[in-house]
Amino acid sequence: MNFQISTISNFQITYMKFFIDTANLAQIKEAHELGILDGVTTNPSLMAKEGIKGEAAIMKHYETICEMVDGDVSAEVLSTDFAGMVEEGKKFAAIHPNIVVKVPMIKDGIKALKWFSENGIKTNCTLVFSAGQAILAAKAGATYVSPFIGRIDDSSWDGIQLIEQISHIYTLQGFKTEILAASIRNALHIVRCAEAGADVCTCPLDSILGLLKHPLTDIGLAKFLEDAKKM
Ligand code: G3P
Repeated sequence: MNFQISTISNFQITYMKFFIDTANLAQIKEAHELGILDGVTTNPSLMAKEGIKGEAAIMKHYETICEMVDGDVSAEVLSTDFAGMVEEGKKFAAIHPNIVVKVPMIKDGIKALKWFSENGIKTNCTLVFSAGQAILAAKAGATYVSPFIGRIDDSSWDGIQLIEQISHIYTLQGFKTEILAASIRNALHIVRCAEAGADVCTCPLDSILGLLKHPLTDIGLAKFLEDAKKM
C-alpha cells in the first residue's frame, strides 16, 4: 500500500482512491458530480461499447475525459510489441498530463513499462491475475498494477486474497507501485478491497452507487419525513 495524502509526524494517512471503470461520459459525469471521483480507467472493450472508432475519435475521447475529471485517466495501448506500445503510449501521454498508459502483462509489456517509467510516463499494468505478475510489474516501475478481482472470482479463485497478497508483498519490499483493484462487480468488492489494502478501486457506476444502499436508511428517512409533517 502506498501513502498519498498527508503526513502527521511519523504517522501517514492514506485513503483508497475511487476511479470509475467506463468510457461512458454520462456515467463519468454522474460519478464526478458526487464529488468523490479520483480518476477513470478504460479498456478497448469499454471504448468499443461507446462506439468510439478510429485514432482521432479515440484521442478526442480521452481528451474529453481528461477535461471532465481532475485525476488519472488510463488509456490502453492496442499494440503487443515493444515499439508499438511505446509509440502509442507517447501519443496518449501527449494528450494530457493525467494520462496513464495502460499496458498488458506480457513480455514486451514489461519492457514498455520500464521504458515509460524511465521516461516519466505513468503506467497501469493491466490483466494481472497473480502475485508473480504484480512483482514483475512493480520491478519494471509501473505506477499502477491492476489485478482483475471479478474475473478471478468468476473462475472460483479468490480475487480479494490476491489484493491482500500483493499489498503484503509491496509493503514488505517497499515497492512504490499502487494496487488498482479492477474488474469490480459489486459494492461489497469495494469494501473488501478497502479492507485488503488496495490503493485504488476502479468500479462501474452501479457498484459505487451500491455503497449507498441500506433498507434501514430508506425506512428511517421515510419515518423522519413523515414525522416532520407533525413538527
Ligand atoms: O478495466 C479492466 C477491468 O476493470 C475489466 O472489468 O468487468 O470486464 O472484468 P471486467
